[in-house]
Amino acid sequence: MTASPLPHPLRLAGNGVVLREWTPDDLEELVALLDEPDIARWTPMPSPFDLAAGLAYLERARQGRLTGRRIQLAITTEGREPLGEVLLFGVNPARREAELGYLIGAPYRRRGLAAAALALLTDYACGPLRLSRLLLRIDPGNTASTAVARRCGYRLTGEPPIPQAGPHGATSLDTWEYVDGLPGARRDRLRNVASRRYGRRT
Ligand SMILES: CC(C)(COP(=O)(O)OP(=O)(O)OC[C@H]1O[C@@H](n2cnc3c(N)ncnc32)[C@H](O)[C@@H]1OP(=O)(O)O)[C@@H](O)C(=O)NCCC(=O)NCCS
Repeated sequence: MTASPLPHPLRLAGNGVVLREWTPDDLEELVALLDEPDIARWTPMPSPFDLAAGLAYLERARQGRLTGRRIQLAITTEGREPLGEVLLFGVNPARREAELGYLIGAPYRRRGLAAAALALLTDYACGPLRLSRLLLRIDPGNTASTAVARRCGYRLTGEPPIPQAGPHGATSLDTWEYVDGLPGARRDRLRNVASRRYGRRT
């Protein structure tokens, strides 16, 4: 991976999900997804997340995409209704590292969507983007997110926890890593889980 901008526009399909660019038409659905207690608790999103927050969010996403600094994609099953979001940011070209993040709207959880989207973006990052180490920062109390990380082949590093001031007081984030070439077997087994849940294979 060089210091060149990240590809835009981007559409990734596989594992039973389609990851696509956000559009201005997604505003109301974005607000419905993000104005939710677990998202307020575990992510840096403003709360309440209203239309103004949604507009600002989509504009920041657009800028981040146009300048090639981040990948920020809506998670869908057919390329239309957004059900969540997956991101790649903080690219360090010299170390071939980047950080990833994800969220799923409350009505769409526990269907394998986060794991499917994270696995797909992980493959893209290690393949076409030629990154070799991917990071997740997760509050150890966020059992749903740590389960997603584990399922996608990420493992907890020994790096010191990163202190955070959250809405529920002081907390910290653990660092998880996916190192390309290291045990991918578990993630490989996941590949068709989401597809099976949606009744088709990739
Ligand atoms: C974390 C989050 C993205 C998970 O999304 P999801 O689509 O429900 O996750 P998946 O269905 O892909 O589940 C993947 C694994 O996590 C497990 N899991 C999901 N939610 C869980 C929960 N609440 N408690 C325990 N395990 C959970 C699933 O059982 C599955 O495990 P398996 O591999 O043993 O089958 C979602 O709960 C969310 O958006 N939370 C709020 C935002 C957030 O925390 N983002 C991450 C910040 S680091």
